[in-house]
Amino acid sequence: MSAAIDWAKLDVGYDWTTSEVYRPTRLEVDDASTLPGAVYSDPDFHDLEKQRVWHSSWVCVAEQSDVLTPGTMFASDVAGTPIVLTRDSSGALRGFQGETATVGSLEELPEVPSSHVGCALGLVFVNLNGEAPPLREWLGDLVPWLEDYEKALTSGQLIATHRTSYDIAANWKLLIENFLEYYHLPAVHPALCNVSGVDEHQRFQGRGMYMGFATHPLTKGGTAIDPGRLPPFPAIKAHRHETAYHLCIFPNVFFSLYPEAFFRVRLTQQSPTRTVEYATLQTHAAAMEAPDASAILQEVFEFWDNVNTEDILICENVQLGTSSPAYTRGRFSFRFEETIHRFQNMVIDKMLVDEPTRFRVPVGDDDTTFLELTARSKDEIKAPKESTVAAAQRARANADA
Ligand SMILES: [Fe+2]
Repeated sequence: MSAAIDWAKLDVGYDWTTSEVYRPTRLEVDDASTLPGAVYSDPDFHDLEKQRVWHSSWVCVAEQSDVLTPGTMFASDVAGTPIVLTRDSSGALRGFQGETATVGSLEELPEVPSSHVGCALGLVFVNLNGEAPPLREWLGDLVPWLEDYEKALTSGQLIATHRTSYDIAANWKLLIENFLEYYHLPAVHPALCNVSGVDEHQRFQGRGMYMGFATHPLTKGGTAIDPGRLPPFPAIKAHRHETAYHLCIFPNVFFSLYPEAFFRVRLTQQSPTRTVEYATLQTHAAAMEAPDASAILQEVFEFWDNVNTEDILICENVQLGTSSPAYTRGRFSFRFEETIHRFQNMVIDKMLVDEPTRFRVPVGDDDTTFLELTARSKDEIKAPKESTVAAAQRARANADA
């Protein structure tokens, strides 16, 4: 049994390089406390995080649709280090460190080694210092499991119909953590609940540097994103037609993969208390050819833009709350915040550079996947598990009895 935590000592002046400060978050989720509120605003944490978390991770720097045509240049960055992406005449994707505006030619910039640039699920990733495990390992079972989607998401087949950005007065981790829990849906996004109901949410989590959960089945609620308004991505399995997969790939990209079109958000950290998000609405050629496609996609975009703006407003308020000296740490909500516990432990793994956990890729669940990772057809899917809400209510009733 580990020694008791001396809270009075722990939450006074933080040394972010020691394991002690993270010990309450390292506990099993039922006993754990969250990271201290200071991680959302402390400049010292932010400076360490840039090097230890962002530079040594596979950071999403673009949508593949941003750099599709040979000769295109796309400016991005990894935690303040500017990157230029380009596709050369042979079709190869290349990354350079620096800004083209300040240098005459791209060739004068140092090139990011090709092994530190990778693509998957329609996204471009860069691992700046080359220390991270290979991208395939980083993503774990996500790509094999989304194999049918992966074909549809491969460069050239994914069509970006709308792009926008958001300048946000909140730490990047709050935006990720907000995406990772869904009990705020009824209070913050009542319209979204008509399609992706809280009771229809289910946990699924495989191995990989990602957090996942799902909504099954999707329901029709008279909204812009009702299932069936556009044809689904070609060649995806039948059971995907009524399921949304909510995925966050560590550290900086999240999206809800809906069968017809989806809104994807890439985060860039600008300062401890400022984040810029780049969002893209993605669909495919067959959807573009459907009757009224452009009007429907405009409505879908406006729906997600509204949901994301609602999320940003609550995150900016939470930013103020976590900055209060009265707030130190919180607890994790049973079943609803296992995703946040997983995310915060990935941050800790990276912050503790001398620990053997630095580059571990966490395992997934043995038994809480409602759609089996290996299921390839509807017949192979076992009976749906009880929803997360039902499981939490049952556990509560048992505890009260
Ligand atoms: Fe939300």
